[in-house]
Amino acid sequence: MLDLTTSVIRNLDLGHGNYLIEFGVPDSIQQMKPAQFFMIGTPGSEPLLRRPYSVCGLNGTFPDNQRGTAQVLYKVYGKGTRLLSGLGKGAELQVLGPLGNGFDLPDTGRRALLVAGGIGSAPFPLFIRHLAEAGHPAPRMIYGARSQGDLPLLSWFRDSCEEVLLTTDDGSAGEAGRVTQPLERLLEQGEGERLHLYVCGPDPMLKAVARLASRFDVPCDLALEAPMACGFGVCLGCVVPVHGDDGEVRFERVCVDGPVMPAQRMAW
Ligand SMILES: Cc1cc2nc3c(=O)[nH]c(=O)nc-3n(C[C@H](O)[C@H](O)[C@H](O)COP(=O)(O)OP(=O)(O)OC[C@H]3O[C@@H](n4cnc5c(N)ncnc54)[C@H](O)[C@@H]3O)c2cc1C
Ligand code: FES
Repeated sequence: MLDLTTSVIRNLDLGHGNYLIEFGVPDSIQQMKPAQFFMIGTPGSEPLLRRPYSVCGLNGTFPDNQRGTAQVLYKVYGKGTRLLSGLGKGAELQVLGPLGNGFDLPDTGRRALLVAGGIGSAPFPLFIRHLAEAGHPAPRMIYGARSQGDLPLLSWFRDSCEEVLLTTDDGSAGEAGRVTQPLERLLEQGEGERLHLYVCGPDPMLKAVARLASRFDVPCDLALEAPMACGFGVCLGCVVPVHGDDGEVRFERVCVDGPVMPAQRMAW
């Protein structure tokens, strides 16, 4: 784990409060797994606590990446993300990482199906690159959001996936409704036998997808979010209830035992 002071190379405004920030990183960071994350802060400014962000891209994930860089896709919610969105080229960043465990590749005979809710698409560009590098076919993706503007990097995903099925709550893009609608149809057609679900998005979406995965007995990995103060296992601010191997419910830390956890372990 490195604690870096680095600088912003660019901070692209993707519209509707979504940004892609790029910053310099040393070579060792290029080994990060998709869904691992950084704790990022802006030196000398409020808020004191850094915020967690998934690694979205590294060298070569996006065609115009500079060498020795990492990218983070983020949405402005509160103080920390607003401060980040105001940073321009050359601004200083404090970056702690790599943190957490990350997505593993699917077993032989299974294909990745990515399920993303809004800014939950952030870990998937790097994952798509890892799949390609390991010789896996381009994945399919179900990408849902409240509205058309909440689907950052959509054209990149369309170019990089075999197929992107869209849903929006207001029907402004794709099918009106939730990601679980096309997912349930695919699973009812028997596709689950050949799939491994990788899911990132808001908690209610994770829970709904986890229920479908359990009903159709499909392997399913969730990239969880939780409030995080430290990011490396000390503060216990990020615990979630899980089923232990002995069947008892216990608490595990999302920052070090996750953020990726198999859906069937969750004791929601
Ligand atoms: C492992 C991990 C990886 C993450 N990766 C990313 C990422 O790649 N990109 C990204 O944009 N975010 C990501 N997040 C979420 C991100 O950390 C939060 O959005 C961020 O901490 C918000 O900080 P803030 O200071 O702007 O908002 P705060 O001031 O902390 O919160 C402002 C308000 O927004 C609400 N809020 C905060 N976060 C969210 C959220 N995620 N969804 C809905 N409401 C929220 C709060 O409840 C509060 O009401 C990740 C979180 C975790 C745990
Ligand atoms: S964020 Fe501190 S223990 Fe997980």
